[in-house]
Amino acid sequence: MSENYRNSKLDTEEFQKLHGIIGNSVIIKEVVNIIQQVAPTDVTVLITGESGVGKEVVAKAIHNSSNRNNKPMITVNCGAIPEGIIESELFGHEKGAFTGAVEARKGYFEISDGGTIFLDEIGELPLSTQAKFLRVLDTGEFLRVGSNVPRKVDVRVIAATNRDLEQEVRNNNFRKDLFFRLRSINIHIPPLRDRKDDIPLFIKHFSENFAERNKIQIEGFSEEAIEVLKNHTWEGNVRELKNVVESLLVLKQGKLIFPEDIKKHLPEIKEYELGYIAPSRNLPVHTHKSSEQVERELIYRALLEIKNDLEELKNNMVLYFENKNTVYDLNELNSDKFANEDLTLQDLEKEYIKRMLLKYHGNRRLTAKKLNISERTLYRKINEYGLNEKL
Ligand SMILES: Nc1ncnc2c1ncn2[C@@H]1O[C@H](COP(=O)(O)OP(=O)(O)OP(=O)(O)O)[C@@H](O)[C@H]1O
Ligand SMILES: [Mg+2]
Repeated sequence: MSENYRNSKLDTEEFQKLHGIIGNSVIIKEVVNIIQQVAPTDVTVLITGESGVGKEVVAKAIHNSSNRNNKPMITVNCGAIPEGIIESELFGHEKGAFTGAVEARKGYFEISDGGTIFLDEIGELPLSTQAKFLRVLDTGEFLRVGSNVPRKVDVRVIAATNRDLEQEVRNNNFRKDLFFRLRSINIHIPPLRDRKDDIPLFIKHFSENFAERNKIQIEGFSEEAIEVLKNHTWEGNVRELKNVVESLLVLKQGKLIFPEDIKKHLPEIKEYELGYIAPSRNLPVHTHKSSEQVERELIYRALLEIKNDLEELKNNMVLYFENKNTVYDLNELNSDKFANEDLTLQDLEKEYIKRMLLKYHGNRRLTAKKLNISERTLYRKINEYGLNEKL
């Protein structure tokens, strides 16, 4: 029985489960229906929607339920490749095609032969490359840079963008013919604020996932907290919701989360959403952040986390060497496995955490406190260093 046949037999719910697509809203059910219809064909699909709505999730589901699923889906972020090399990246080049081209190289289209190519942020493709891309879509043919011998590939194309391509066409940034070619099968994923009923499902899914990944017990979110999150505008969509859910679980250390916690830890969620101030039609109740702004904030948050981790590591080291009156004095350093070995900072950290855990009888809360790190970080390091079995 072919994979396609098997997929066509799945009902929407089974299909969603298989491909990890959360959502009970009519909107999501419609999206899933289109995925199921287009997946077994070779038709080019354009996926549109704001940042973080799940475009990549949909692209993966299409590929994984197509009859190309025995080959990989190659993802190319068109926005991340410098304009000067995008053509050779996509179509490959011949030896000597340009300075530095010391040997011939396949491009992404050739690499994806027999499978799927996912061109993310297609709106970023330079105009000159758009013409060549259209040719591949129409004929499957392209030229490597520096060659005039056409090559042919059998590739299924899925493209995605969070830009308004129609507007880009009006601004002369996107070719009209390519736009028409792409939009014939367009899966549009509406923003999360237009499918609020799915929010509780996402909260449950991300919470359970997080608890499982980190092997922690959680009490989750109170009804009222869920209601608050349901009414937020989620400019960063599902990605932002996931981030907020995980941050709250960490900050509350697995205890039940209430609206006050959201207010305390996430002041950007406006007060009226917490029910303290009634929203008024006359008041500008929230400023619409652009998806770039939201993206930037998310990156900023991640960077802050890395910075905090580094800070903790530094503190640990200082603590280690300054704490000479404890059992971890330098005499002991010389007397055991630390002696005569060039240890990495990681070895040192692992050993130190192990000792602290032993000293405090495996009490992780106390150990984390003494190490001046969060329990979450301690749990992560215990897993990372495989200290679980040793205690
Ligand atoms: N329906 C869904 N079910 C499960 N997870 C989802 C769903 N939609 C989005 N996600 C999750 O949300 C996050 C963002 O999704 P994804 O990367 O697919 O968004 P995107 O639209 O491609 O965003 P961007 O435009 O920024 O590239 C991912 O962690 C993804 O797993
Ligand atoms: Mg994406």
